[in-house]
Order: sequence, then C-alpha cells, then structure tokens
Amino acid sequence: MTTAILSALPEEQSSLLQLLQKKERLTHAGRTFCRGFLYDQAVVLALSGIGKVAAATTATTLIERFGAQRIVFTGVAGGIGEGVQVGDVVIASDYLQHDMDASPLFPRWELPGYGSARLACDAALSASLLIATRAYLASAVAHFDAKNRAPQAHQGLIASGDRFVATAQESGALRQALANAGHPVLAVEMEGAAVAQVCQDYGLPFAAMRTISDRADDSAHVDFSHFVQQVASRYAGGVVGAWLAAGGVGGTTYADSAPASLV
Ligand code: ADE
Repeated sequence: MTTAILSALPEEQSSLLQLLQKKERLTHAGRTFCRGFLYDQAVVLALSGIGKVAAATTATTLIERFGAQRIVFTGVAGGIGEGVQVGDVVIASDYLQHDMDASPLFPRWELPGYGSARLACDAALSASLLIATRAYLASAVAHFDAKNRAPQAHQGLIASGDRFVATAQESGALRQALANAGHPVLAVEMEGAAVAQVCQDYGLPFAAMRTISDRADDSAHVDFSHFVQQVASRYAGGVVGAWLAAGGVGGTTYADSAPASLV
C-alpha cells in the first residue's frame, strides 16, 4: 500500500524528506514527487501547492500517476473555533468549502452533485493520526514556546477556501454563519476540502492534521510567518513520523484486503 503524504509547505515536508529511504525524485505536471520508504512503509511525498485547485491537481496526480492508496495531509491552519490556539493541532473529522455558494440553486455551502456541504475524512485513519498527535504533543519537543500553555489536540470540522483569512471581523463572521447553519468549524485553511473531494471521488481514505499557526485575525500574517519558520516542520515530522513508526494504521482500502485475483 502506498501512502501519499501531502504537505502545504516545504518547511513541513523537510523533516520527512530527510528521513526518506531509497529516495526517488520524479517530476510530473510541474510538481516534484519524492517516492521512497519511511519507517519501512512505501510513501510518496508531495507539496500540495496553495489553494484548492493546486491541491486537487496534486492529489489526482498522486492517485493516477503514483498509485497512492490513501492520502494524509499535513499543514497549518488558522484557528477560529473557541479554544483552538496557536500551537494546537486539529485533526479533521470532515471538511467543507467555505467559499462554495451555488445558492439559490443549492443550499449555501452544499457541494453540487454531492448532496452535502461536508465531506467526511476516513474515521480509522483519522483516529490513528489523533493518537499519534496526542503522543507527540505530550512529548517535551512539541512545546515550542515555554510561555505558552501545553498544546492541545482537537478533532472536528475544518473549512477550506481560496482566501487567507486575516481579520477578526472575517473569521468571526465566518464562524457565526457556519455555526448558525449547523457547521461548527474549528479552523480554516486553503486546500484540505479539495483533497477530501478528490479522495471521495476515487473512494480512497483521507485524513488531515493541521497545526494552528494563527487565529485568522488581524495579526494572522505575522503569526503565520513566525510559526511556519519556527514550528511547522517539527510538528509535521513529529506527528506523521510517530504515526508511521507506530505502523501507519488506518484507512485500509478494499484493494488491500481483497484476494489478489480480484485486484
Ligand atoms: N492557513 C494558515 N492560516 C490561515 C488563515 N488564517 N487563513 C487561511 N489559511 C490559513
């Protein structure tokens, strides 16, 4: 089984890249893919690019060209849920596109053709990633700032859109509008919902971990840059490394368990 590990930023990929064994670098569709083994598991590492279209193209290439059978996303996000603070980690339970609006043809946020606004992540894969996150956060190395409270793991809805949310006014309005519609959202970012949609189309398991780099408020751009340079890489490598080292459990597809003659 080949696991794709998709990162939003080179800083997040770098620690995993350093550990990659039997590394092969390949270029396709203007992107670089690194194939090899991490903790004895076949993986392909890629950068998603920024925004939903770039992420969807990368995810599709991972599946079609590199045979990825499940995708794990590591990245940063703006925390907008109550108590979701810089340095915490959110494991996505499901995803929504906050800039999707085909109303009045479809209800606000509903993905036309999918009958729902929300796309679920794979439960087993997300559960094992959450266990790895808790283990990593409990270790001293995760504490990026001694003044800060102990970082926490959350699991819940993440919203993606082609916007860097950078004012308290915008994040507050988004949180309220989504909550009013029954979508209590923990964090915002710019790619995950697109990858979730591609994985749903192909029937493949998907899970995502997002480290909170900012509060999607007026200081988001400053917090984001600081955090990405100082912390994001350690977290992505720490959590995904812990998850793979523990066996990379979760998200077994039909193809893995079916007799060879049926595959
Ligand atoms: N990724 C990290 N912080 C973000 C924010 N504030 N808005 C959108 N994507 C983000």
